[in-house]
Amino acid sequence: MILVTGGAGFIGANFVLDWLAVNDEPVVNVDKLTYAGNLQNLHSLQGDARHHFVQGDIGDGELIARLLEEHQPRAIVNFAAESHVDRSIHGPEDFIQTNVVGTFRLLEAARHYWAALPDAGKQAFRFLHVSTDEVYGTLKPNDPAFTEDHNYEPNSPYSASKAASDHLVRAWHHTYGMPVLTTNCSNNYGPYHFPEKLIPLMIVNALAGKPLPVYGDGMQVRDWLYVKDHCSAIRRVLDAGTLGETYNVGGWNEKPNIEIVNLVCALLDELRPRPDGQAYREQITYVQDRPGHDRRYAIDARKLERELGWKPAETFETGIRKTVQWYLDNPQWVSAVQTGSYRDWISQQYAQEQKATA
Ligand code: NAD
Ligand code: DAU
Repeated sequence: MILVTGGAGFIGANFVLDWLAVNDEPVVNVDKLTYAGNLQNLHSLQGDARHHFVQGDIGDGELIARLLEEHQPRAIVNFAAESHVDRSIHGPEDFIQTNVVGTFRLLEAARHYWAALPDAGKQAFRFLHVSTDEVYGTLKPNDPAFTEDHNYEPNSPYSASKAASDHLVRAWHHTYGMPVLTTNCSNNYGPYHFPEKLIPLMIVNALAGKPLPVYGDGMQVRDWLYVKDHCSAIRRVLDAGTLGETYNVGGWNEKPNIEIVNLVCALLDELRPRPDGQAYREQITYVQDRPGHDRRYAIDARKLERELGWKPAETFETGIRKTVQWYLDNPQWVSAVQTGSYRDWISQQYAQEQKATA
């Protein structure tokens, strides 16, 4: 089995769902259930004996050590993090605690577990750390895309905390020989994306008749990847990645934010026209820019393609259509997140999970 952290969040939940859809290897899913953790994302796994959920903090070394001892996973995939740049600007402390201290504690628990494994288990064990392109900083319009050799130049408290965690993972390999892998991915989008991030926020605000807030001039560029392609890349790296290496993951799909917002509006005009017949783009409002806003990210994913044969399955056109449709098809999920009732649901659900696993 494998141990996944942060598997109730956006990418982690998609990863767990896809993992169990493509093979039967069980998953122990450790998630603290912060505001970003939502057990409704894993609703379809209710009663599935292959999924074992534990509410817990990656910074709780004793808990992680106990879970490793009890379940003897062959790998850890670390998604757990504070992930939202704007929140990191207003309150960096949680980012340092989870992304830096938490990763350190998780690494230490993993190292002690791994060191005590018999030779075959030791050889097979993997610690895969899920990271971001934001650690590389920002690009000028004509700069080449980030390769794995690009300097680390993080600009926000979030990216600095992720950069620190990547450095810890690297050091645990060089110093202790830990069998680690790191992936640095571009912006994801898709189902279960928390509506504080650009694409889901635009969808839910548009449908609610609210303003669509575009920061600054809207010309910041991001490189978008459908979340399920990120998940397939992680599975591939876990299977065949070279120990100690990092792999950039991206969709070769750079777009300015304003183009993304216009695209989302156009899809909604087609799929769920406004009752007053107006275009959703009428709701676009330019607002104050994010402090320290990185202008452009772009990922060069050729190493992953060349060495491990990975390519994204979705184009942006197919992925964004599926995403908008998913939000239209799942109004209960959206409303539970917007009203905060998913938190009540979590406590009820978690009580049930505890009963089920007691
Ligand atoms: P998310 O915020 O949606 O989910 C994070 C999950 O981690 C939540 O379920 C939360 O409850 C859990 N968590 C937070 N602190 C924890 C702790 N101390 N212990 C255990 N669980 C904890 O984030 P996401 O967008 O799914 O991102 C997952 C990972 O992928 C992060 O490491 C992020 O840096 C990285 N990443 C995200 C993107 C993106 O576009 N979203 C792109 C590249 C990399
Ligand atoms: O690049 C990978 C990163 O992508 C991940 O590491 C982060 O966890 C993830 O949150 C994401 O970071 P961004 O800051 O790029 O994503 P966000 O959705 O917050 O913003 C995308 C762009 O849209 C960014 O340039 C800011 C802008 N934006 C965002 C919001 C929420 C707006 O213009 N208006 C908004 O309301």
